[in-house]
Amino acid sequence: MKKDIDVFKKELAETVDFLKGRLNRKADIGIILGSGLGELAGELENRVTIPYAEIPNFPASTAPGHEGQLVIGDLGGKTLFCMQGRFHYYEGYDMETIVYPIYVMKSMGIDNLIVTNAAGCVNADWNVGDLMLIKDHIKLLPDSPVRGPNCEDFGMRFFDMSDVYTKELRDIAKKTAAEQGLEIREGVYYLYPGPNFETPAEIRMIRTLGGDAVGMSTVPEAIAAAYLSMRLLGITCLTNMASGILDEKLTTEEVIETGMKVKDTFIRLLKGVISSWEIGSDD
Ligand code: HPA
Repeated sequence: MKKDIDVFKKELAETVDFLKGRLNRKADIGIILGSGLGELAGELENRVTIPYAEIPNFPASTAPGHEGQLVIGDLGGKTLFCMQGRFHYYEGYDMETIVYPIYVMKSMGIDNLIVTNAAGCVNADWNVGDLMLIKDHIKLLPDSPVRGPNCEDFGMRFFDMSDVYTKELRDIAKKTAAEQGLEIREGVYYLYPGPNFETPAEIRMIRTLGGDAVGMSTVPEAIAAAYLSMRLLGITCLTNMASGILDEKLTTEEVIETGMKVKDTFIRLLKGVISSWEIGSDD
């Protein structure tokens, strides 16, 4: 936390008070919808939609395929707090700003989070359009969303990262996928800062380091979720083979197009997972 802690807490309280004033119920699960996956929000019942621009102290989203609004509504017997559009490092935000919504969720009593994203497929044995459960991540950027003075009201100075992508939730997702006849991958997500896509040499390096997918999001939010003791499920849509694997150029159009093609399968999986998700009575 680079900002003064008292200033941060005051801003957070303003955001949370505003949102509580607009909502008539507590949400069970937070969900961040990645590029091209925002349509899940359209499936929610009893929806309340709040553009980010109306929310005090909330950043604005500029990425393509991201709506930039909160949608709160019901799905699979749970109330979801859905971010249609997230904040990325490549947009120029610092990591503290990127994870602000995670603090907002936690302060609103949400202890469960789903992050989704689009990523390049580094694992040459897998295919475009495959879905991957994030098992772990690699971040070589020196920056961290929780760098700076620590406030123990939120989390510990040093905190465990051995089960960031909660195993129990990955097991639910695997079981749900099997029931739906869906082959799902499980692998390591490598954070690349962007906004340029990687070079073929960088992709070979990422593969050597153990990355299966490469993308420009999710890791700051995952670190914040671990810091704030939230349970986390991460699902990646592999929208394209990573740079240099095929003899073709990477485009945003391909990323969005694959997201659209996979969207129905993705939504079915998410619905199934959310229905099976046990929200603890102390959550
Ligand atoms: N690289 C980084 N981010 C991405 C990619 C990629 O190939 N595809 C979708 N997001």
